[in-house]
Amino acid sequence: MQLKTQVAGLVAALALPSLGAAARNDTGFPPDEDGKYWIQSEVMKIGFVPYGASISDLHIKDKYGVTRDIVAGWDNATYYTLDEQHPNYGSVPGRYANRIKNGTFEIDGEKYQASLNDNPTEEHPDGLDTLHGGKDGWGWRNFTVEAHTDSSVTFKIVDPSGKEGFPGEVISYVTYTVNGSDWDISMVALATTKKTPIMLSSHAYWNLDGFANNETSLALNHTLQLPYSGQRVAVDNILIPTGAILANEKGSANDFWSKSKQLGASFDGDELEGNCGYGCKGYDNCYTVNRQQLGNYDWRTHSPVAVLHSNWSGIGIEVYSDQDAFQIYSCNGQDGTLALKQSQGIDDEEDFPRTIPQYGCVVMEVQDYIDGINNPAWFREKKQIFGPGDDPYVLRARYHFTVDEADE
Ligand SMILES: *[C@@H]1O[C@H](CO)[C@@H](O)[C@H](O)[C@H]1NC(C)=O
Ligand SMILES: *[C@@H]1O[C@H](CO)[C@@H](O)[C@H](O)[C@H]1NC(C)=O
Ligand SMILES: *[C@@H]1O[C@H](CO)[C@@H](O)[C@H](O)[C@H]1NC(C)=O
Ligand SMILES: *[C@@H]1O[C@H](CO)[C@@H](O)[C@H](O)[C@H]1NC(C)=O
Ligand SMILES: *[C@@H]1O[C@H](CO)[C@@H](O)[C@H](O)[C@H]1NC(C)=O
Ligand SMILES: *[C@@H]1O[C@H](CO)[C@@H](O)[C@H](O)[C@H]1NC(C)=O
Ligand SMILES: *[C@@H]1O[C@H](CO)[C@@H](O)[C@H](O)[C@H]1NC(C)=O
Ligand SMILES: *[C@@H]1O[C@H](CO)[C@@H](O)[C@H](O)[C@H]1NC(C)=O
Repeated sequence: MQLKTQVAGLVAALALPSLGAAARNDTGFPPDEDGKYWIQSEVMKIGFVPYGASISDLHIKDKYGVTRDIVAGWDNATYYTLDEQHPNYGSVPGRYANRIKNGTFEIDGEKYQASLNDNPTEEHPDGLDTLHGGKDGWGWRNFTVEAHTDSSVTFKIVDPSGKEGFPGEVISYVTYTVNGSDWDISMVALATTKKTPIMLSSHAYWNLDGFANNETSLALNHTLQLPYSGQRVAVDNILIPTGAILANEKGSANDFWSKSKQLGASFDGDELEGNCGYGCKGYDNCYTVNRQQLGNYDWRTHSPVAVLHSNWSGIGIEVYSDQDAFQIYSCNGQDGTLALKQSQGIDDEEDFPRTIPQYGCVVMEVQDYIDGINNPAWFREKKQIFGPGDDPYVLRARYHFTVDEADE
């Protein structure tokens, strides 16, 4: 009773809408009126929708005590299925995240063709490769809600054999929990009938200013550090891995390991031209996470694999993860046509339209080496190919949020 009053007090103090009932009824776990499922701690309130098991909202107070919603998303669950751009907003890309060269792969001598949905050409109108699990990958599908409490929500998907060209059935659970300043992600997937590629991720778009920075609508002033990422996966003009692993030379545009720096630090000059594919300036790169020399480290407590921070809001994220790679996308493809949520933006539509501009956000993806299934020389097979009787596919990550002290 007393705790309940305290929590109610904190919720009121945070100026957050109160939680809907997190209890099962006859038809399962009911969402709120926008179709969202909320979890919360005394520090954060986080929303999700079953579509793609996506994170839709993350509300946290900035250094001035103003609540900011720092992930991109839509106002309601219905709109996720209506939106035609499909930016994989906060979703779990699956069953195989990122790109598969030519959409093809081979397991035990058998060739498979996954559905093509990326880089369309006149000759190949569907595309030249598979992105995020194909046309109807997991990010396009409604997961079911298996459990929901005030601090956790669990989504499930059963991906039938042959769906999008992938062999065998896969059953997966995604659990999101919140505890204080930590948002935890746990993904488990089982191949029940045949050997198949599995690689998942979380595809949240961040703007640590809640798209409310009144000096810049870009995220290029955010600082980023990737302390273990001395290398990256080389890609061709359409972002397909070539097989090579490149050095992120100290001081170069892709060096985020030697020190923290602003995302926009290398935008002057032409070093970043083509860094994210033909004609693309910015980041859409898979950095490797090289922790071998740590020996038996605990991913939860050892130093984060990524730190993103905005000085304007004072909000930062430390990402801890058990994964061996990390993708950074600097929203090169956004063009001002994705609308902000009601909970975001500022009242100055003339200078700050209520949309996301190019470079207005940052996507951070915990994952394994992209297209490892077509690059056996990287020895990713045990991390990316799963069959009945194998250990399950597991992805764990903790996003620890920090807020600076307000300056005078
Ligand atoms: C259960 O929740 C859903 C969603 O809010 C609602 O439509 C339905 O009427 C509820 N069922 C019962 C029996 O309360
Ligand atoms: C649902 O969300 C979309 C996109 O955020 C918005 O345009 C629309 O007005 C919302 N619909 C309702 C009924 O709230
Ligand atoms: C997915 O969920 C949304 C939001 O509840 C709903 O509008 C849509 O019809 C669902 N789609 C399918 C295929 O069930
Ligand atoms: C690319 O895919 C086509 C079918 O779409 C297939 O015939 C061809 O062998 C594949 N190429 C490679 C290099 O795997
Ligand atoms: C929540 O976080 C606190 C502080 O880090 C920790 O002591 C506690 O064990 C955590 N609770 C759970 C359920 O993980
Ligand atoms: C910009 O935002 C900051 C932080 O919320 C605030 O202190 C400042 O007054 C704002 N400036 C303008 C011109 O609105
Ligand atoms: C962005 O960072 C640059 C330094 O790289 C600084 O000059 C500028 O004032 C910053 N702008 C904002 C809006 O924080
Ligand atoms: C951070 O922003 C404050 C103003 O909010 C400014 O005084 C300070 O110099 C900035 N620090 C950095 C490292 O940009």
